[in-house]
Amino acid sequence: MQHLAQPIDITQIATHRHTCKAFDPTRRIPPETLTAVKTLLRHTPSSVNSQPWHFVIAGTSTSKDKIAATLAGRFSYNGEKVRDASHVVVLCARREMNGAHLDALIEQEAADGRFATTEARVNQYNARGFYADLHREELRDADQWMEKQVYIALGNLLLGAAALGLDACAMEGIDHAAIDTALGLQARDLRCVLLVALGYRSSADFNAALPKSRLPEAAVISEI
Ligand SMILES: Cc1cc2nc3c(=O)[nH]c(=O)nc-3n(C[C@H](O)[C@H](O)[C@H](O)COP(=O)(O)O)c2cc1C
Repeated sequence: MQHLAQPIDITQIATHRHTCKAFDPTRRIPPETLTAVKTLLRHTPSSVNSQPWHFVIAGTSTSKDKIAATLAGRFSYNGEKVRDASHVVVLCARREMNGAHLDALIEQEAADGRFATTEARVNQYNARGFYADLHREELRDADQWMEKQVYIALGNLLLGAAALGLDACAMEGIDHAAIDTALGLQARDLRCVLLVALGYRSSADFNAALPKSRLPEAAVISEI
């Protein structure tokens, strides 16, 4: 991989992005920007390139309403964002890191030209299998392990959305099981981890005018 000819000032994006609390229901993300969002999601790095995710993008009133309908009661504060956003990304984790997925990964890496020798391919297959087994059998945290990878996609998406001129709202305030049922995710061997609403802020987005708040550098970063 070559370095970018023009380094991007990513700190400006990090300090200027914010969580959008109200979306303009009349504005749609153009197709080329949506393509860029998909590229971002797909290129998220993951442990041993395990990519234990799937991203369902709801871009119609029907599909967004289906998700919004699950946000009753204590999660209802997120419903309007889902309805008014241009698109809602359902970030899902696989329910299992099974043999079929491990095979698909190694085949893709081979097709992408990652292996000069059969030995390199076998080593990669075994290394990934080692971690998959470690989390499934010894640490017994395969679900959390896969979920952690999905959160890397979240970070990529939030920063990337701002870089693409989009507003975004991550949402953990959701009924995960209800979304799994509404979207038939279990049958696809997936489970919903969280949502990200994408689009453009409306004048009701009070958060756009508020200053950003973060703990001071000394409280969260030490140099040794
Ligand atoms: C994992 C995660 C879950 C979040 N869940 C919600 C949510 O359900 N509803 C909401 O309005 N904001 C949600 N937020 C937004 C956070 O409150 C917000 O990112 C945080 O206050 C920092 O503000 P900033 O994003 O504007 O910099 C979530 C953010 C993250 C990263």
